[in-house]
Amino acid sequence: MMSRIRFILGALTLAFILAVTVPVNAQQRNPDSSVNPTASSVKEQQLRQELQRIQGRGTIPDTKSYLIEQPAGRDWRAFHEVTLRWIGAVAILGMLVVLVLFYLIRGMVRLEAGRSGRVLVRFSAFERLVHWMTAACFIILAVSGLNISFGKALLLPTIGADAFTTWSQWAKYAHNYLSFPFTLGVVLILLMWLPWNIPNKVDVEWLKEGGGIVGHRHPPAYRFNAGQKAVYWVQVLGGGAMVASGYLLMFPFYATDIAGMQVAEIVHGIVAMLFVAIMLAHIYIGTIGMEGAFEGMWDGTVDVNWAKEHHSLWLEQEARKGHLGAPAQARAQPAE
Ligand code: HEM
Repeated sequence: MMSRIRFILGALTLAFILAVTVPVNAQQRNPDSSVNPTASSVKEQQLRQELQRIQGRGTIPDTKSYLIEQPAGRDWRAFHEVTLRWIGAVAILGMLVVLVLFYLIRGMVRLEAGRSGRVLVRFSAFERLVHWMTAACFIILAVSGLNISFGKALLLPTIGADAFTTWSQWAKYAHNYLSFPFTLGVVLILLMWLPWNIPNKVDVEWLKEGGGIVGHRHPPAYRFNAGQKAVYWVQVLGGGAMVASGYLLMFPFYATDIAGMQVAEIVHGIVAMLFVAIMLAHIYIGTIGMEGAFEGMWDGTVDVNWAKEHHSLWLEQEARKGHLGAPAQARAQPAE
């Protein structure tokens, strides 16, 4: 009896030992039965899933460098290389298509009454200086910034690695240094034109009539109409967002951690694409879109008939202040 019990106990013990050791052995051997030296170590994948990051230890003071991998970095890279490019392509190319179609269908908004030959001052020398300084910085910031988003995909295969490297380095210097005059421009524009950009009832009427751009009606407006006020606020708020997120990127990790840096880049990238698209519309309407508009920002004066058609309430204010002059100065006409 005792020997039977001993036999059963021995068999059970053997079965238990086999059950525990066989899977371990199976793990430690490759299919060809050679030993797999890393089989029992923790997998990268497991660590990323459980800890959301792989972090090591280090001896240098910059503890950020101890972080080796984190899934959020992959999401950010996917945003930067796929999503942002789509947003940019749709916004910028979409706007270009709309503007070309608009020009083909509507054409230039003409001065219906023709030129009167009398002009009035629209922008002072200081206002024009601030406008053109900010505009020049904006264009260079936009081109050099778009190079970061699209250059590797579009330019690198076309011009080759050496030329792309040289161009990108200069573009990056321009982007960093022109950020300072651009910031000054955003602040000056905010202060200099704020009094004329507060929305009011006239804007509602102007918007209801589609700004007179579609059709031939000319809804009244003060110095800036609702469309121009929208551009002003895009410039001030969009410019403000670009400045804030841009400096976070330019001086990395001073005010934010890595997650904050990623948010800053996402904000900077998305606002940039929308900003560029909106400014294309602004450039269109200020040049080939409307007769008589460009000269206001170029030499500072506009024709009285232009003011009558597009800013009738402002013209009345200027006339009351005696700014029309008598006799009014005529724009120099070329000899026939
Ligand atoms: C104060 C103003 C600005 C500052 C300080 C600034 C700074 C920066 C910095 C540091 C970067 C990252 C560069 C890199 O990754 O090496 C960047 C990227 C970029 N910037 Fe600006 N920037 C400013 C204004 C603008 C403006 C006005 C635009 C366009 C209208 C613009 C468009 C872009 C674009 C498209 C990118 C690339 C975004 C991406 O692909 O992730 N930036 N900027």
